[in-house]
Amino acid sequence: MRVIEPVTAEDFRRYYDLRWKILRAPWDQPRGSERDARDAHSTHLMLVDDGQRLLGVGRLHFNTIREAQIRYMAVDTPQQRQGLGSLLLRELESRARSLGAATIVLDARESALGFYRKHGYHPNGTGHVLFQRIAHLRMSKSLAAAGQGR
Ligand SMILES: CC(C)(COP(=O)(O)OP(=O)(O)OC[C@H]1O[C@@H](n2cnc3c(N)ncnc32)[C@H](O)[C@@H]1OP(=O)(O)O)[C@@H](O)C(=O)NCCC(=O)NCCS
Repeated sequence: MRVIEPVTAEDFRRYYDLRWKILRAPWDQPRGSERDARDAHSTHLMLVDDGQRLLGVGRLHFNTIREAQIRYMAVDTPQQRQGLGSLLLRELESRARSLGAATIVLDARESALGFYRKHGYHPNGTGHVLFQRIAHLRMSKSLAAAGQGR
């Protein structure tokens, strides 16, 4: 098991495919809806097993030089709740820290609040409602206080 950055066109095809499958397909959203303009300027991470099977994905971008944002966290359905999302999140946080972030923000789906709380994120505002159905809550974590979440 390792966390890598997608490099080849095939890596990116699989990366966006999992993002779409977990975060868009269940709400009948078309292919392409899983991407946004920041993808070209973001850090993309994928978790693969020893047989190169893709298990999870996540993205990091910067809103300011000190504030990073995590988006599009997705672990393949059969592999959820086995610690894989935590592995990915920790690596995204490590990248954010080494790129100079002091704070990480994210918009958590209500269904994922427990996951982010466990990692030391705190709600600090209302978020948006996606597809008129999925409520999000803005959460943040100070990297100076990192270590409080696991
Ligand atoms: C949210 C997600 C990325 C978490 O990854 P994961 O691999 O399932 O999570 P982990 O196994 O690392 O979870 C670690 C801990 O976080 C908590 N947790 C994880 N998912 C949770 C959930 N949906 N609700 C409440 N707590 C949760 C649990 O305490 C868990 O530990 P436990 O299993 O020992 O109780 C993954 O479940 C997922 O892709 N979900 C669907 C897509 C999604 O909601 N993405 C986030 C968009 S904001």
